[in-house]
Amino acid sequence: MLDQVKLQIYRYIQELRDERVEKLFVRIPFGKMLRSKLILQIAPSKEAIGLAAMVELIHMASLLHDDVIDEANLRRGKPSINVTFGNKSAIMLGDILYSKAFYELSSLPAPLPQIISNAVTLLSLGELLDVELARSFNPDIDRYMDMIYKKTASLIEASAMAAAQIAGKDTRRYGLYGKNLGLAFQIVDDILDITQDEATLGKPTMSDLKEGKTTLPYIYLYEALDEKGRERLLSLFKKELSNEERSWLQERLRDTKSLDRAKQKAMQLGQEALECLDKEDERLRSIMTQLIDRTY
Ligand code: FPP
Ligand code: MG
Repeated sequence: MLDQVKLQIYRYIQELRDERVEKLFVRIPFGKMLRSKLILQIAPSKEAIGLAAMVELIHMASLLHDDVIDEANLRRGKPSINVTFGNKSAIMLGDILYSKAFYELSSLPAPLPQIISNAVTLLSLGELLDVELARSFNPDIDRYMDMIYKKTASLIEASAMAAAQIAGKDTRRYGLYGKNLGLAFQIVDDILDITQDEATLGKPTMSDLKEGKTTLPYIYLYEALDEKGRERLLSLFKKELSNEERSWLQERLRDTKSLDRAKQKAMQLGQEALECLDKEDERLRSIMTQLIDRTY
């Protein structure tokens, strides 16, 4: 069914009748399509395929803008659109995908457009918060959790809620599942940034700290270090790391169990997500466990 979502996305793109957009669009590789998997699992229906295609377009648009903001060179292992075609084209392609998705969304019955558009506002507020938090090292867990809820979990929560609405299921329960799954997903992503190599990640390893992102493992590390260690950690914030500095960070993150603590937090959120589900939702359980145990 994911193939049908991809087909629907291509149909939406073709409806724009613009060769330049088609040329740019084919350079964006599809990702894991987590949001579509979730939507189709909760509501296996034709209506859900359209919804999933709209959500994927919104997600792609947000990543196009995010790569401009983060000055990223790689996305999913391929040169990002901002690098190949420049920032201006990347921003405009993002706007085109985003507004096409909203045009389609506006013909769905209430409250689906409201559920999704509310999440896009949160998504944008989350990105703004991410940009502002990147100004200095952020040791505050609550601000980090608020930021990842908005930036990542909100659209996953909204996808699950909207699918539940289509399927006549409990939107509150499925929304909570999506929210916890989204939070766990982002924390696992933050851990993988530290533990995986560039070939696996499709982007340089340990790029978060260099981009000014104080992710959960670094917040736990800050808590665990003594005065001198903290000073060294702060001195590496937003810096191009040498091999020696990289190894120092990797070792400290391991021996203070900061990575383990972050993994435990992701697992705890995963557990909370599963508690929202009925026993028969086996596939949704496996989406969660695959997501926690993934290596990329
Ligand atoms: C990736 O974060 C970024 C997001 C999940 C959201 C970005 C949202 C916006 C740019 C708001 C604009 C929205 C629209 C619809 C135009 P990351 O940088 O931590 O992850 P990465 O490592 O995958 O880049
Ligand atoms: Mg980014």
